[in-house]
Amino acid sequence: MTGRLIAFEGGEAAGKSTQAKLLAERLGAVLTFEPGATDAGARIRSLVLDSPDLALSPRAEALLMAADRAQHVAEVIRPALRSGVHVVADRFIGSSLAYQGVGRRLGVEDVLALSRFATGGLQSDLNLLLEVSQDAARARRPSPGDRIEAEDAEFHQRVLDGFRALAGHHRDRWVVIDGDRSVDEVAEAVNAAIRDRLGV
Ligand code: TMP
Repeated sequence: MTGRLIAFEGGEAAGKSTQAKLLAERLGAVLTFEPGATDAGARIRSLVLDSPDLALSPRAEALLMAADRAQHVAEVIRPALRSGVHVVADRFIGSSLAYQGVGRRLGVEDVLALSRFATGGLQSDLNLLLEVSQDAARARRPSPGDRIEAEDAEFHQRVLDGFRALAGHHRDRWVVIDGDRSVDEVAEAVNAAIRDRLGV
């Protein structure tokens, strides 16, 4: 039996990393993240995020995110799933659709095609969208932040709207979770969603 791939998605500082770690511990799953989980990916992450002033066209940014994903799937995700182990990813295809497709206005369909190429067609079994109020996210976000965090409020609003639209259009693969609660309460909602949708 192959493992299940579960992705946490959301805007900046939504509490994804904390929840991904808790869920991976509960499931005995491989915990991973994008971008940057492989050696090549760490270099790509540093290129895309570390230099706020680096000139990078939206298409170049989308291709770099896709390259990170291709390596991540080949090296980490597919081998784990094939050996029957579940994988919990802190961001996956949904982030490219929301950030590059909607935030950078490249279009969701084109960016999805790029991700499909990158993953060889592998998709997540379930996406958990953690939503937090903008005030809570702002309070948690480091300032001035990385190249993408440093984008203006309109960009980040487009990203959040993009996530919401994705979750609304693909209810079979997305669950929206209210992240404006205690860590334990959010974790309980995550566990309930995983049991309900995937039976694990
Ligand atoms: P994080 O690991 O701290 O969440 O930061 C990753 C940043 O990269 C965040 O700003 C979202 C962004 N990102 C994209 O723009 N597209 C993607 O496909 C992924 C995976 C992340």
